[in-house]
Parts: sequence; structure tokens; C-alpha cells
Amino acid sequence: MTINRPPMGWNTWNTFGPEINEQLVRETVDFIVSSGLTKAGYEYIIIDDGWSEMERDAEGRLVADHKKFPSGMKALGDYIHSKGLKFGMYSCCGTMTCGGYPGSYDHEFIDAETFASWGVDYLKYDFCYHTGTLAGKYFYRRIGAALANCGRDIVLAACSWGMEETQEWIKTTGSHTWRSTHDIQNSWASIKSITEQQIKMLPYGAHGCFNDMDMLIVGMGGNSFIDGFFETNGCTLHDHKTHFSIWSLFGSPLIIGCDIRNMPAEATDILTNKDVIAINQDPALCQPYRIALDRCPDDILVYARLLEGGDFAIGCFNMSEGDYRFIFGLDELGITATSGKTIVAKELWSGKDQPLRCDSFDLTIEPHGTRLFRCKVVDKK
Ligand code: GAL
Repeated sequence: MTINRPPMGWNTWNTFGPEINEQLVRETVDFIVSSGLTKAGYEYIIIDDGWSEMERDAEGRLVADHKKFPSGMKALGDYIHSKGLKFGMYSCCGTMTCGGYPGSYDHEFIDAETFASWGVDYLKYDFCYHTGTLAGKYFYRRIGAALANCGRDIVLAACSWGMEETQEWIKTTGSHTWRSTHDIQNSWASIKSITEQQIKMLPYGAHGCFNDMDMLIVGMGGNSFIDGFFETNGCTLHDHKTHFSIWSLFGSPLIIGCDIRNMPAEATDILTNKDVIAINQDPALCQPYRIALDRCPDDILVYARLLEGGDFAIGCFNMSEGDYRFIFGLDELGITATSGKTIVAKELWSGKDQPLRCDSFDLTIEPHGTRLFRCKVVDKK
């Protein structure tokens, strides 16, 4: 099976870690529907680590934690499906998951069958506690084969954190997405570090096997599982806008990690910006590329991406701590002075057109700031 867009959804881990239960998931499902997130495209409800009992049953099957999920996973999957959403689960290629629960090592086929029998549509597959004598790619080939034979279409979301040059072999495994970095933290430093690590990964993304930059931290204040439940400042909404813009332009899956039952209205506005999501989900699946490179320091990023129908997306990201003046021309998009063409650029957060000067952008952006444009190619007057 193939998928033709980066998956969008919600995952339990960032905010709740293993402190999850069926009531939380059901309430979240209801909020996803009522808050307009479903309409915006979010569809996978993913239960991460910490969902199972510590022991398999007598037949060697994984069993849901009876206290956390008393109705069982089949019933939860049915509930999720009844709202028009899709059901995601989590396991790991090693003997244990990262949280110490049973892993799928040497149980790949029986686990794939179990997930299929519960109606699972998406499986996140982690990289902890595997034997060091076998290269990582073999574990993902095993689960890829098991899922392909389980009788149900299940998206395989590999989570080997970019280890062992994941990008080189992941497309041999049947995976549909692959994590390219270690875990996101609830901080600007983490957004910046993950972004910088993408620069060499971008050629390996898109086209049916999407580079997963990890779950979003939009809408998370301080005091969540990935903060160690400590009170922290988290990020500002301004940072979140830049984070969401980068994940969108780079074609990452958009998996929300906040407690959406309690997220601020501004976070909902960010997560449901249709124009920004349209770039993430653009059917042409073209790779973004860096422009204005020779003029920019490392923490000043300008990326362009050709879209279906001939529009361009351009993102200008000031990852530095001071204002920065961005100046770059259209020639780097292939729109040369002799083409007789220019562009009309709409900035997607403000909704305003950006005037060009001599076919060049000239804008000053504040620290951690973003301008994300959708550009139409037009005849020059
Ligand atoms: C990590 C993974 C996280 C989360 C966690 C669960 O390896 O990158 O996203 O799934 O394990 O223990």
C-alpha cells in the first residue's frame, strides 16, 4: 500500500507519556471533531508507548493494560472509526519498548495480526532494546513484511531517530514515514536543532515515505511529559508559528502533541491554517530547496518548493536572536529576468500580498520569526 500525503493526526506521547487511558483518548477524539481539526485534515489518533500489560497472554499476544483501557483496543478503535478517524498504535522493534513494555522482537507477525484484528490503521515502530548484532534495517524489514501480510492496510511509521543512516535504507522496508532525529523537546532550541538537522535529509523525503520531524509542540505550554512534567516556559506562540511553518514546508507528518482539550485558541488557529496545511499536503510532493544560501548565515533559512499547478511556496525563517534583513531574487526559483514573468506573493499568516522590489524580496524579520509565502507566477507588465 502507498500513501500520497504526509499523515496528520494526534499522538499521546508529548503531553501524557505513559499516563494514558481510554477516557483521555475518547475525549480527545470528541475534541478533534468539535474543534475543526478533523476538517483541517487531522485524522490519525495515535496511542504511543505505555498502553500494554507487562506480559503477553498465553498465546503470546500483546494485551492492552486492563486498568488504562478496560474496554480493550478493539472497542477503542471502533469508537475512533465511528467518528470518521483512523486508529494509530505503537510498538518497538526490540524486546521491550522504550518505556519497558513488551516489544515486538520475534513477534512481528503475531503482533501485526493482533493490530489488524483491533482495526489499527497506523503503527509507530520504535528502536529501543534491539540486539546490537543485527542492523536496524532488518528489524524494519521484518515488521514491514509482517504488516504487508496482515490482511489490513496499516501505515508503518518508522521511528529509528535517523540512526544508522535511516534515510539510506528506509524505503526498502515498506515504511511510509521515518523519524529523522531524536525526540523533540518543548523548547525553541529543539525546534532549531531539528530544523538544522533536516538540511541534509531533505533529498530523502516525500513520495510515499515521508521524513517525520517528530510530533508538534504547538499548543503545549510548560508542564508536560517531555518537560519531565516540570514547570517550564515552553515556547511562545510566535515560535510555534515558525515551527508549524517549517514542518509544513518541509513536508513532515503533522502530528499534534498537545492536550487539545485544553489548547489555547491561538494554537487552534495555527494548527488549522488552511493555506499552510495546503503546502504540507501539496500533491506534487516536490522537495524543498534552500535558496539565498551564499548570502545567509547558518541560522537564516530561505527555502522554496514548487507546488502542484506551478505555484511556489517560499519560507523565510529567522532562527537567530536578532532582526535579519532578507534580500533574494526570483532567479533562484528559475524565474529569470528574460522569462517575462514575475510572481505575486501572498504571506500566509497575515493574508497580505508582499510587494517585490526589482523582482526581489526585501524584508526584515524579527528573531524566531517566519514569513511563509504562496507565490503565483504571472506575466510581467
Ligand atoms: C521514543 C520515541 C518517542 C516516544 C518514546 C516512547 O523512542 O522517539 O517519540 O515514542 O520513545 O517511549
